Amino acid sequence: MANLVVVGGQWGDEGKGKLVDLLAARADIVARYQGGPNAGHTITLDDKKYALHHIPCGILHPKKICVIGNGVVVDPGSLLREIRDLATAGIEVAGRLFLSDRAHVIFPYHRELDRMREERIRKNRLGTTCLGIGPAYESKAGRKGVRVVELRDRALLQNKVEQHFRAEDGQMPPVIERIGLDIRRVIDEYVRFGDILSKFTIDTSAYLQRALREGKALLCEGAQGALLDMDHGTYPYVTSSNPTAGGACTGLGLGPTQVDAVLGVFKAYCSRVGEGPFPTELREETGEHLRERGREYGTTTGRPRRVGWFDAVAARYAARLNGMKAVALTLLDVLDDQAEIPVCVAYRYRGARLTEFPCEPWTLEQVTPEYETLRGWRKPIAQARDLASLPAEARDYVRRLSDLIECPVAVVSVGASREETIRCEGSILPDWL
Ligand code: IMP
Ligand code: MG
Repeated sequence: MANLVVVGGQWGDEGKGKLVDLLAARADIVARYQGGPNAGHTITLDDKKYALHHIPCGILHPKKICVIGNGVVVDPGSLLREIRDLATAGIEVAGRLFLSDRAHVIFPYHRELDRMREERIRKNRLGTTCLGIGPAYESKAGRKGVRVVELRDRALLQNKVEQHFRAEDGQMPPVIERIGLDIRRVIDEYVRFGDILSKFTIDTSAYLQRALREGKALLCEGAQGALLDMDHGTYPYVTSSNPTAGGACTGLGLGPTQVDAVLGVFKAYCSRVGEGPFPTELREETGEHLRERGREYGTTTGRPRRVGWFDAVAARYAARLNGMKAVALTLLDVLDDQAEIPVCVAYRYRGARLTEFPCEPWTLEQVTPEYETLRGWRKPIAQARDLASLPAEARDYVRRLSDLIECPVAVVSVGASREETIRCEGSILPDWL
C-alpha cells in the first residue's frame, strides 16, 4: 500500500478535512505534519459537525491511528480540550492517538506575543490567528523552544522557561506585565499537561517507520495551504511552517523516498483569511454571495473569509511545488447558481502578461487578473455521484481547471457530507479511491 500526502493548494480551507476523512477509510494511520491549533478542519458526519485543530481527521473513523508529528506546534490546553470534546461526542482516542515527543509546545506568552504584535502593528498586520503559532516556531528556530518530552521534567522545564524570559529579546517583560503571567503557575500547569499527555507521547518517527516496514498505509495530512507556506507562499503573509508536501518528511521524520504520491486539494474558487495579496479577490456582492453559499467563515477564528475566482496561475504554481499527482476539487456546488464563471489564466502587470506566480508581494498586490469566462450550469449538483451525471458545463469547468493546473482531477466534492463525492473514473490513486 502506498502512502499519500494531502496538501492544500491555495491559502488553506480547501476542504482537506473532508478529503482526509474520506481517504482515511483506506488508511491505517493518519498523521499531521505541521501547523498547530491555527488549523481548523470542519467535518460533517451524520449531520453532526466536528471542528478539529490538532488532531488529524482520521480520528472520526473508530479504528484508525492518528499521529501528531514533530513538525506540529502543540498548545497542550487546547489539545486536551479537543480530546475532551471528542470524548463527549463518544469518540475515544486513548490507544490510537500519538503525539511526537519532539513536537514544540505553545505557551501563553507565545499567544500573547502574537496578539500584541498584531495590535501594535495595525497597519502592517498579518491577520494571524493570534494563537501563538509564529512565536512558538520562532522559539523553535531560535533554539529556545520547549518540546513535549521536556514537559515531563519539572526542573528542566523551569530552567528553560526562565531562560526564555531572561532572553535577550526584551519582548517578554511587557508580555508578562500585560497578562500578569505568573511563571510558576504556568510551569505547574504545563507539568500537569505533560503528565496527562505522557500516555500519548512517543517517538512518532520510529513508530511510523516501523508501520511502513509492516506495509501499513499512511495518510499524511497537511494544514493550511501551499500559498501560506513559509518558503513558497506569499511571504511575509504566510504561516510559520511548511504546509507543502516536503513538510511531511521533516514534520514526521520520513525520507522523501518514502512518500509515494501527493494529492492537492483546491476549492473550485478561492478563499483567504488574514491579510496578504489575493489577485482574484471579489469585493462586491458576488463575493458576499459566494461567502454565504460557501459558509466561508473561519473554523478557528470565525472571521469572514475573503473570496475570489479560481486562480489558475497560483494553482499551477502550487501543483508544481508539491509535485501533485492528482487534484481534488471541492465546493463545486457553491458555484451552482452562477451564469458565468471567470477563471484567472494569467496576470497583467505594467503591460506584461505573467503566467508564473510572482515572488514579490507588491507585484502580486498590483496585478490585474486576465480572466477566461466559462459557462455556469445553474442547477444543483449535490446529487451527482459520477462525472457523467454532472451538467455538461460543470464537467467542462472541471476539465478546464484540470488542464490549467496541469494535473488530473481524481475527486470532485459537491457537498459537505462523505456521500456528496464524485470519484473520477480511471483513478490516478488506485490504492486510495
Ligand atoms: P498564523 O498561522 O496564525 O501565524 O497566521 C498566519 C496566516 O495564516 C494568517 O493569514 C492566517 O489567517 C493564516 N492561517 C493560519 N492557519 C490557517 C488555516 O488553517 N486556514 C486558513 N488560513 C490560515
Ligand atoms: Mg480550515
